[in-house]
Amino acid sequence: MVAGAHLIHAEPGSIGPTGRPVPAFADPEPLLQHGPARIVAVCNQKGGVGKTTTTINLGAALAENGRRVLLVDFDPQGALSVGLGIQPHELEYTIYNLLMERGLRASDVVFKTTVHGMDLLPSNIDLSGAEVQLVHEVGREFVLGGVLEPLLPEYDVVLIDCQPSLGLLTVNALACAAGVLVPLECEYFAMRGVALLLETIDKVSSRLNPRLGIDGLLATMYDSRTLHSREVLAEVVKGFGDKVFHTVINRTVRFPDATVAGEPITSFDPSSTGASSYRELAREVLERWRLAERADPVHGG
Ligand SMILES: Nc1ncnc2c1ncn2[C@@H]1O[C@H](COP(=O)(O)OP(=O)(O)OP(=O)(O)O)[C@@H](O)[C@H]1O
Ligand SMILES: [Mg+2]
Repeated sequence: MVAGAHLIHAEPGSIGPTGRPVPAFADPEPLLQHGPARIVAVCNQKGGVGKTTTTINLGAALAENGRRVLLVDFDPQGALSVGLGIQPHELEYTIYNLLMERGLRASDVVFKTTVHGMDLLPSNIDLSGAEVQLVHEVGREFVLGGVLEPLLPEYDVVLIDCQPSLGLLTVNALACAAGVLVPLECEYFAMRGVALLLETIDKVSSRLNPRLGIDGLLATMYDSRTLHSREVLAEVVKGFGDKVFHTVINRTVRFPDATVAGEPITSFDPSSTGASSYRELAREVLERWRLAERADPVHGG
């Protein structure tokens, strides 16, 4: 256990790392049937804040809860694919082909991962061409949504790992998503660029996708031993209040280790603090979606 782990997994009712009393999250309800999936874009144009790590590990934790999960690697770097043990440059078909070629079925490109119930639409460097090629297309913002549409009945959750940019690919993710999950690294300048991100989300929601909302902001790489980590987290909570997840992800070398091993931390080191944090996040996220669905049964999730 790392120092401060007691703070990360605060008992319900006690004050958690975000400075608020931690609620008890309900046990996720077992699903009697699957689909249609809620699409969630994991998005922050700042690089290296934990988007890919969150996509893999939240996805795996949701799958442990019996959810059928599709992960979409929407970054030409292919880090999500690598993190799941796939060599992107060896792939014949990726999400790029689905975006650009008619007649190819999404099911032909979907990979099963080692996690039961979790699949992947992989990507590689080819995707970097899509941004330029799509610019001249009619309905260029809705191409990803069209690709995902036929897959939605089979899954409960689609998590899109966005690239660190607010370009057309990311706009495609926002244009088809019901929610955005924003990882923020607990370092100075964490908030830099967040205003621009929120502005983009606002524009997409008013011009392209009225049901888009913010599912939550997730503090990552938190180290309770450092003052600046605590200060940054306090500032994030001050700025965004209840939008900030109670669950906070610690900084631990087990995450890069799991990436090298090509698997989620929930299977690489199931009893680690990192694994239990993402399991806790899955419970918190499922509770938020349940409440959103109750408030708006059509678009909630
Ligand atoms: N909680 C954590 N503790 C320690 N290291 C972490 C943690 N989360 C992620 N990392 C590491 O930090 C690096 C960046 O994380 P990740 O790739 O998830 O960020 P990203 O936002 O997807 O980056 P990019 O913007 O380049 O796509 C990786 O090496 C990852 O293993
Ligand atoms: Mg990434």
